[in-house]
Amino acid sequence: MTTPAYLNGDYRPLEELAIPVMDRGFLFSDGVYEMIPIHQGRPRCLADHLTRLRNSLAAIQIQEPSDWDEIVGRLIEASPDPDCLVYLQVTRGVMPSDAPFVKHYCDTTPTVFGMVKAMGEPPDSTHAITREDRRWGRCFIKSTMLLETVMATQSAREQNAGEAILHRNGNITEGATSNVFAVVEGMIRTPELGPTILPGVTRKLALQLLREHGVEYRETDLSLEEMRNTEEVWLTGSTRGIMPVIKVDDAPIGDGTVGPMTEQLRGWYQEYCLNG
Ligand SMILES: Cc1ncc(COP(=O)(O)O)c(C=O)c1O
Repeated sequence: MTTPAYLNGDYRPLEELAIPVMDRGFLFSDGVYEMIPIHQGRPRCLADHLTRLRNSLAAIQIQEPSDWDEIVGRLIEASPDPDCLVYLQVTRGVMPSDAPFVKHYCDTTPTVFGMVKAMGEPPDSTHAITREDRRWGRCFIKSTMLLETVMATQSAREQNAGEAILHRNGNITEGATSNVFAVVEGMIRTPELGPTILPGVTRKLALQLLREHGVEYRETDLSLEEMRNTEEVWLTGSTRGIMPVIKVDDAPIGDGTVGPMTEQLRGWYQEYCLNG
């Protein structure tokens, strides 16, 4: 079966697409991306994903090149499964081969790419490792420069864990590909947004659902030590939804099972994805 995809104005199977090697995305990771979950043919929080994509583009000074609604709509229509992910990527484009290397941007036309990806079946819960956050300081940009994320994810896999929870100066920032929540002495906490955190769309939705159900939370520092002694930990992300963490490094979280607040929020989240 072929994979529906889009490149610079053309809708074609992924298998037929190719990018020139002088594309700055290939050479320098000079680009940004988005991953949008689609439930029963409906994009979840599309406006938030597109706002974040526009913010990422503006932050690296790439002019917004495309009609996203049209591209996302056509990729969903072409998807063999109504539950899927739509991946979008924009790079600064192909630079002339005699352009000065690296030093400055060239007068390029952005490369715009999209494809459908299978949603996959997330596990019921996961284990996490912890790791120093060695990424750059502008993590609010959803950059394709993902080397440290790849290394962190690989390290988690090698330790039979599903995520690496990152920390700077003893404070949790986020997961390698997720945002982090914990219940500390009965209060839900998640690190406040800032330059070292991606403003997760699922994080925002989780906070909205908590507010709608009258559940209090705090966006504030969460130390590594606090997280280790907490009652519940969960991750949020477009591909995982609300994902309970039942073990961090070698120690169980709470009694090592999915906690009641996590279960409750996951129920609200699933209902939202099905009914909007
Ligand atoms: C570093 C990072 N933080 C958080 C998230 C979660 O963001 P979202 O909920 O928008 O998928 C992701 C998703 O890929 C991520 O890569």
